Amino acid sequence: MNGASASAPGKFVILGEHAVVYGKPAVAVAINRRFYIRARRNDDFRINGESTDLRFNPHIRYIAGRNDMIPVSVHMDSKIPTGSGLGSSAALSVAFSAAMRVLCGRSMGREEIAKEAFEAECYCQGRGSPMDTSASANGGGVALNAPDAGGSHLWDIDRDGVSWSVSGIDVPPMTFVIGCTGIKAATGPLVERVRKYKDGNRFASDIVEEIGQVTLEGIDALRAGDAECLGRLMTKDHKLLSILGVSSNELNKMVNASLPHAYGAKLTGAGGGGCMVALTDQPDIVCEAISSRGGFPFVVKTGVEGVKASAKNE
Ligand code: PMV
Repeated sequence: MNGASASAPGKFVILGEHAVVYGKPAVAVAINRRFYIRARRNDDFRINGESTDLRFNPHIRYIAGRNDMIPVSVHMDSKIPTGSGLGSSAALSVAFSAAMRVLCGRSMGREEIAKEAFEAECYCQGRGSPMDTSASANGGGVALNAPDAGGSHLWDIDRDGVSWSVSGIDVPPMTFVIGCTGIKAATGPLVERVRKYKDGNRFASDIVEEIGQVTLEGIDALRAGDAECLGRLMTKDHKLLSILGVSSNELNKMVNASLPHAYGAKLTGAGGGGCMVALTDQPDIVCEAISSRGGFPFVVKTGVEGVKASAKNE
């Protein structure tokens, strides 16, 4: 095979980010913003036409390394804002893993792709959970370590003594508005900050436990289609994440501006900037509220397909 193209969606987290790194439950949903990749065999590695030093592209480097380091020319185009908590790097890893599998004639199983992309994420950001890569590979909604979430068991992943059981779940029709602060924040240092706080402080590790509890209750509310209860728990989760130190003034302003018109709102993803999400049945008013605080809102579409790839000879 000479060429391949692939795409994979970004995601937002309804509940459980950061705590999921330590094996607590979480629920994330793929969104209608995708990362697109075209790859073809070449004499050297190129990204968007430019000869590239793979030290500066660790996701590409890691996944190429798992595919015999076959040199490829890669074209990338993404509709997912980077460094914004919407799983852009996970979608890149998932899409590139799928493209390389097509190129090398390897199995296209979503499980293998999710696992390879998770390893790439850990290689690049240090510690993490397989939440983003699982949501991106599978599409739809995924719940981790939530035995009562219903849905279908997808795969189990173990790393550094932590185990995650991942299921695909149905997300009832609910309206979520994402608000981007426009401020980029890398995931790795935020995860590391929470780890240090949690390891050195009993109070912080209790907060991580509490996020796990709130998430389990939220998953019950999601299954029951109870937007009021789910929203209340999202707002509570935002407060817990703020105590862990991963919110920001911009995120708090946008969350607070949304709340009078929403069932609940919280930061989503690693935080420190990036995005928040509100659950509402008044999306236009929430979008205005987010814009009035300097944010960039959009209504998200859920129920989207996971990774897709096909052979494309060039
Ligand atoms: O900000 P994102 O899209 O990289 O999401 C990070 C989610 C965390 O729970 C903070 C880390 C992880 O790997 O689960």
